Amino acid sequence: MIVTMKFPRMNKELLKKFIDIRPVMNALNRRYSQNHEEFFKMYSEDCVINGYGGPLTADDYTRFFSKRSMRREPALTREMTNLSYKVGKHVISLAEGMPNEGVFPISKVDIEVKGTGRLLLEGSDLSAALQYIPSQGLPPLLSELRQFQNDVHRPPAVPRDVIVTNGGQHGIYQCMDLLMEEGDPVVLNEYTYTGAHVALKPYNPEIISIPEDQYGMIPETLESILSARLSRGLKMPKLLYIIPTGSNPTGTVVPEERRRKIYELACRFDFLIIEDDPYVFCNYSEKRVPTFLSLDTCGRVIRLDSLSKVVSAGLRAGWVTAPTPVLQKLELHMQSELLHSCTLSQVILHHLISNREALASHLKAARDLYRQRRDALSDALQGLTGLADWTLPDAGLFFWLKVRGVEDVHNMVFRTALKRGLMVVPGQAFSYYTNAPCQYIRLTFSRIRYENMNTATRHLADIIKEEQQLYLQKLPQRLATER
Ligand SMILES: Cc1ncc(COP(=O)(O)O)c(C=O)c1O
Repeated sequence: MIVTMKFPRMNKELLKKFIDIRPVMNALNRRYSQNHEEFFKMYSEDCVINGYGGPLTADDYTRFFSKRSMRREPALTREMTNLSYKVGKHVISLAEGMPNEGVFPISKVDIEVKGTGRLLLEGSDLSAALQYIPSQGLPPLLSELRQFQNDVHRPPAVPRDVIVTNGGQHGIYQCMDLLMEEGDPVVLNEYTYTGAHVALKPYNPEIISIPEDQYGMIPETLESILSARLSRGLKMPKLLYIIPTGSNPTGTVVPEERRRKIYELACRFDFLIIEDDPYVFCNYSEKRVPTFLSLDTCGRVIRLDSLSKVVSAGLRAGWVTAPTPVLQKLELHMQSELLHSCTLSQVILHHLISNREALASHLKAARDLYRQRRDALSDALQGLTGLADWTLPDAGLFFWLKVRGVEDVHNMVFRTALKRGLMVVPGQAFSYYTNAPCQYIRLTFSRIRYENMNTATRHLADIIKEEQQLYLQKLPQRLATER
């Protein structure tokens, strides 16, 4: 449950009353989800969660925070902005540094949204949409997002809150700044989203790279690596970054069993989990998998959401859900970094999120469109049989192919393929060590024209054959290591 304030200590009677009214509260909390419960359900009915120990206390989090982030202080002027949204209109203010709305030259914003209808902003609504807002986000959007997260993930009752970001990448960047110290160890999949790597690079981290199979990160491998580190007295990681649904680039979906096991390891080895889940609504299998947030009994999950892949990438619509002490730090970061993310985008996001039925139908349509494209590219890829190995991705936007007979795809991607007019991403783009040899390539199916799929695959087959010949003849090639 997302609660934004601490409960006072409750006596037994009060606690009993509280427990008794929980079914009613749940029903109220789920006011939106009745029609779309299955679609938005990212939690397990089976509430047994194997966390270790109780929830972390506010003090516990300080051991995760970087010294840099501990030095952040609230900007008093931002606190005044927060205050101005709370006090009534009767208060005369000489306090805020807000511009006069009369100078805004935009007189109307009229947006037609498929399914939800028109969003018309004029007069005071428009003025508000063009004005400064609190760093955490537009207040009505925050209320809506809290409700949304409660409905969708039904997280265990740990004090948490949300903050609106400029997309998921912004959340990643903030989290790294919040948690990382120079040289800190961090757990990642062997191949993962480049945006996480580039956010980490300045901290010169020690990468604990966990290989994955077709079901994503292997908890047993993680466990043995962490146990070995512990017994050798090595510094232990404070964080694990994971893309649990439709990983970029591998397309894997981590099954519930593994998520629970990884969560247990977080409790046992004392680290936080950054759950970066922008493909959560691009899951093509009918089976819903509970999110890490929904398993988070101890307050160890920082969840990053983004609507970039299913609503708009340019709106920069994302939000972070985290335990309150973490959230407070992120808010301070936001104050110093960009005051707040774009108000107009937040107004649009609010319009979308608060029309839950329309949002669900839109997300279903988006998922169906991507599923169709995935299947079409999958058919076309049959032309690569014998030349590469891959599995059908259960979620996300990518095929991850291991090319046979080519030790490093770098030359193939940047010379042979480009020469034939085909662009694909070399696997090393998703390795922390971008100049290490790599046999993988990533193919995106989200935008390629249907009529180009077979042509692309034919080209790719020729390119692979040509490259395999280079390897057989041992001809000189430009490898990733030579860049
Ligand atoms: C796993 C992952 N996280 C974050 C992002 C960044 O998305 P956003 O547009 O929300 O910043 C991407 C974009 O490709 C991604 O694949």
